[in-house]
Amino acid sequence: MANVDFSNRDSFGSKFGVIAAAAGSAVGLGNIWRFPYVAGESGGGAFVLIYLAFIFIIGVPVMLSEFVIGRKAQRNTFGAFKILAPGKPWFIIGIMGLVAAFFILAFYSTIAGWTLEYIVKAVSNGFKGQDTTIIFESFKTSTFKPLMWQFIFMFLTGWIVFSGVKNGIEKYTKVLMPLLFFLILLMCIRSLTLDGAAKGLEFLFKPDFSKITWGVVLEALGQAAFSLSIGMGALITYGSYIQKDNNLSKTALQVSLADTLIALLAGVMIFPAVFALGMDPQAGPGLVFQVLPELFMKMPAGYIFSIIFFILLAVAALTSTVSLLEVVVAFASEELKISRNKATIIGAIAIWLVGVIATLSFSDLSHVKLFDLTIFDILDYVSANILLPVGAMAIVIFLGWFFGKKLIFDELSNEGTLKMKFFGLFIFIIKFIAPIAILLVFLNSIGIIKF
Ligand code: PFF
Repeated sequence: MANVDFSNRDSFGSKFGVIAAAAGSAVGLGNIWRFPYVAGESGGGAFVLIYLAFIFIIGVPVMLSEFVIGRKAQRNTFGAFKILAPGKPWFIIGIMGLVAAFFILAFYSTIAGWTLEYIVKAVSNGFKGQDTTIIFESFKTSTFKPLMWQFIFMFLTGWIVFSGVKNGIEKYTKVLMPLLFFLILLMCIRSLTLDGAAKGLEFLFKPDFSKITWGVVLEALGQAAFSLSIGMGALITYGSYIQKDNNLSKTALQVSLADTLIALLAGVMIFPAVFALGMDPQAGPGLVFQVLPELFMKMPAGYIFSIIFFILLAVAALTSTVSLLEVVVAFASEELKISRNKATIIGAIAIWLVGVIATLSFSDLSHVKLFDLTIFDILDYVSANILLPVGAMAIVIFLGWFFGKKLIFDELSNEGTLKMKFFGLFIFIIKFIAPIAILLVFLNSIGIIKF
């Protein structure tokens, strides 16, 4: 292994800062916007069960693996593999991660832009007395406004990344993540006390296995990976900023638990309201933007809540987009040797250009389809359901089979200073369980093997 230069790199300041930043990356639109609608389209309860199994059997170990790789190498996702496995082709995982960051940020910033429009609508009391479905349809099919908001969102993302690792996001996430949690709890209470709410809970938690196909299992795996931000090196990059005395296992578990809790609470917030208000749980990407405004109009002080909620949704998205851009910026500044500032500007503009196409696929480009999927759908599907699971599989294979058990032990136990109760289990999972499970899901959903 080449000598590692630890000087000159930014890092997270405190333990809570690490959790806030990593949870900031994990908790985002994936939890509040994507999880409810994907669960809705994939049959509800049975999907949720499979999702939970994937989070704990595959998600947590992969997250931990990424932290180990990042902290050991002290490099971006591409450079980490170059340093840890010189002369070997493992850096391809890093390239795949860069592509995934590009794709995800491109379509993610479309939706993130929507949250800004909804803040403005909430402030100007624009939902009152209106049909929220019509409002949503006319907004997303227009050309200019969604593009403008997307640009503004990318600008904000670039701005924070520009200001560095410690001084930007770490400070904000520490305050805003607990606030987001509190508001979701309040809204769950409102949703659950609507007439007819029980049906929504049943939909979310009562498994109906007749709905499950291998395609749905792959969706659950993709959603778990997307939600935890694993499989592409965002957490390798963040791991490289974690200090050497941090207990990585504890951090990975805490971040995963927070992420899962918020996804479930988002489900509890949305589905009872969907059923109580007689809306369609299979409404797709618009689900949150149609249901929640209706819910706000029906709740006391809904005006204030709607403003706060959409601001927090935007913030949750922002702490995730920052981590996506950071993947690209850390790579460009460390490997291509351009300044961090330049890397931020070029990276943000390049991604925004792809993002424009994603946004237009709800309007001017809505007729451009492949296998009945729009460009937006393709970016979403390919990154979550293919790039992330394949990336996750490659990462655990690298760590489990090629890295060396002793090195893993040293990194995880902070050179022997921490007790490692589950080390054997962790190794068993990353060597066998996780890669085989991901492979089986793939082969089955492509139809190569049939269970
Ligand atoms: N985990 C984020 C969410 O659930 O919204 C999305 C995401 C962020 C995925 C960063 C991947 C990533 F690297």
